[in-house]
Amino acid sequence: MAERVAMIGSGIIGRAFAICFSRGGYEVTLYDPTDGVAEKAIPLMRETVADLEQNGLLNGRTTDDVMSRMIPVKTMEEAVEGAIHVQENAPEVLELKRELFATLDKIAPKDAVLASSSSSIVTSKFTEELEGRHRCMIVHPTNPPYVVTILELVPAPWTDPEVTQKTRERLEAMGMSPITLHKEVTGFIMNRFQSPILQEAFRLVAMGVVSPEDVDKAMSEGISQRWSFIGPLEVGDLNAPNGFKEYAEKYEAMNRNIAMEQRDLVPWAGPLLDYIDKNFRERVPMDQHKARQQWRDRRLMALAVHKKWANENIK
Ligand SMILES: NC(=O)c1ccc[n+]([C@@H]2O[C@H](COP(=O)([O-])OP(=O)(O)OC[C@H]3O[C@@H](n4cnc5c(N)ncnc54)[C@H](O)[C@@H]3O)[C@@H](O)[C@H]2O)c1
Repeated sequence: MAERVAMIGSGIIGRAFAICFSRGGYEVTLYDPTDGVAEKAIPLMRETVADLEQNGLLNGRTTDDVMSRMIPVKTMEEAVEGAIHVQENAPEVLELKRELFATLDKIAPKDAVLASSSSSIVTSKFTEELEGRHRCMIVHPTNPPYVVTILELVPAPWTDPEVTQKTRERLEAMGMSPITLHKEVTGFIMNRFQSPILQEAFRLVAMGVVSPEDVDKAMSEGISQRWSFIGPLEVGDLNAPNGFKEYAEKYEAMNRNIAMEQRDLVPWAGPLLDYIDKNFRERVPMDQHKARQQWRDRRLMALAVHKKWANENIK
């Protein structure tokens, strides 16, 4: 019989994580306090799961198989009963996470991992007083995790390293790509990468250097090409004949000079914000926004298909 994983909160991330876990072979219970949300998650997920199957991204499983292990439930107690992993996906509100974890620590099986999808509130802010604080951690996805498989594991200082390691192995076995942070830090890694890029995008437009369209193109047709399969450090290693040290020595001064020009923050407000927003609405009117989101998701699936093929075939 499949082991059970519980989703606490069945919004965007709860549904996406449910797909990842069920695709990984687990039975998934879905709980949400808002009436009807857990039940309505089923047809929404089926649509996505069918797309994943069509793209060969279901780990060889079928839509019916993945969906047959999804169980909407009415109470948190039912959700966590017999669960080996509980994933909390409630809104990003500290007091709410604190209350939820206090409850989950009481009602979940004593050996279940208690994980939060929190994007910015670190584990130590809402688990310190708990008897079971050694089993609590953040497992932070990047949306949508069924195609963008990175997961940031962020333990608190009191999380048992063995629990973190076992969780990492469990997620890897599901085809996810977990990384482990050795200490808590604001924004974890993904947002710390994304934040300076966004700052710079605003700054370049504010300085009149480039249009919003070309900022995005510089990334999508430029440096992101290699970043989709090697990271910024390996880019450096491969861009110098004698490897990373040579690269760092050669480009340190240029990068320091650029960083000195990037120290002042550009406010994301006023005429600059209006200008970028107007530019978007001219390109993608609001009534086409949802279709554009669906296009993005189809592109992400196509990229995931390519990466899967490339990982297996390009040595
Ligand atoms: N959306 C993203 O791109 C993204 C990415 C990574 C992490 N996260 C994080 O995931 C978490 C959930 O975000 P989301 O985007 O799925 O939000 P969402 O608004 O889509 O879903 C939140 C769900 O939680 C439910 N909820 C409200 N109170 C609850 C409670 N007491 N117990 C259980 N569920 C409750 C709501 O009814 C809602 O269905 C947040 O911590 C967020 O920061 C979001």
